[in-house]
Amino acid sequence: MAPMAGVTDRAFRRLCLRYGADLVFTEMVSAKAVSFGDEKSYELARLDDSDRPASIQIFGSEPKSIAFAAKEMLKYSPVTIDINMGCPVPKIAGSGDGSALMKKPELAGEIIYAAVEAVDIPVTVKIRSGWDSSSINAIEIAKIAESNGAAAITVHGRTRAQGYEGKANRSVIKSVKSAVNIPVFANGDVRDGQSAIEMLVETGCDGVMVGRGALGSPWIFEEIKAKLENRNPRIITAEEKREAILEQLEMMVADKGESSAIHEIRKHIAWYIKGIPNAASIRASVFSVHTKENLKEILSQTELF
Ligand SMILES: Cc1cc2nc3c(=O)[nH]c(=O)nc-3n(C[C@H](O)[C@H](O)[C@H](O)COP(=O)(O)O)c2cc1C
Repeated sequence: MAPMAGVTDRAFRRLCLRYGADLVFTEMVSAKAVSFGDEKSYELARLDDSDRPASIQIFGSEPKSIAFAAKEMLKYSPVTIDINMGCPVPKIAGSGDGSALMKKPELAGEIIYAAVEAVDIPVTVKIRSGWDSSSINAIEIAKIAESNGAAAITVHGRTRAQGYEGKANRSVIKSVKSAVNIPVFANGDVRDGQSAIEMLVETGCDGVMVGRGALGSPWIFEEIKAKLENRNPRIITAEEKREAILEQLEMMVADKGESSAIHEIRKHIAWYIKGIPNAASIRASVFSVHTKENLKEILSQTELF
């Protein structure tokens, strides 16, 4: 499962793992904020026994704070430290972080090297195809990552300029896979078993990473795996899905407190019910409640799937 800020919190990570994800990622965590001792950032990164295996993703553009944050994250025993070199959001890229590092290959290398030197677990890197269509340089950055000690790379086959629009370019991902010897994971537009197979076949990659396909659908991983193994997917009943959402709510309340949890789970519920006939009215009632008990009542009494 892909790292997604505002989405892949502990509760959602647990659901994705339960429904077949082999590895999950935290939301991106600011290395700079960690180096200032920001408690919220530590909380974003915290893993507990129920959301493993997980990687912690950090972002930043100062090798020193990247090294510090990478080391700090070891207290949560992640599988890897992942470095974000793909975020297109102006607030991040505008500060030289995330996808802006695609434009600064030398600094990107220094950052990866700093993390690799700081920790004794694998460091992975998530990149885009390039900054824009006139500067597709995923191969260059991937080679730099490899030579600076990265253990694996994920390539999202879009440029920063594309944001999340257009189609992910599988041929760029394929060319990265051919150019390096470390594992390469393919990302972008994998939304079901068929697109996962196409992605794997067309790129030759070692695995796929699923982002938006998991929104409102943490069970997508089971479906994809069934397809890859050429067997019928397990039928997940509406009742099981409802129970999972109620559990997600309880986990979010335990982690963030009732008020934040209610606020944050609203978008998840909107994703869960997307496309059902009375989605608009369910959404309206979900968005008007302020307590866990009221929300549970709505979730328990409504057809959600
Ligand atoms: C809401 C949202 C938040 C995201 N946050 C992150 C992030 O924190 N770190 C990151 O590397 N990518 C982030 N991404 C990008 C995804 O990890 C992924 O690369 C992208 O969505 C393409 O994959 P998909 O087509 O499967 O969604 C985010 C994407 C979305 C939609």
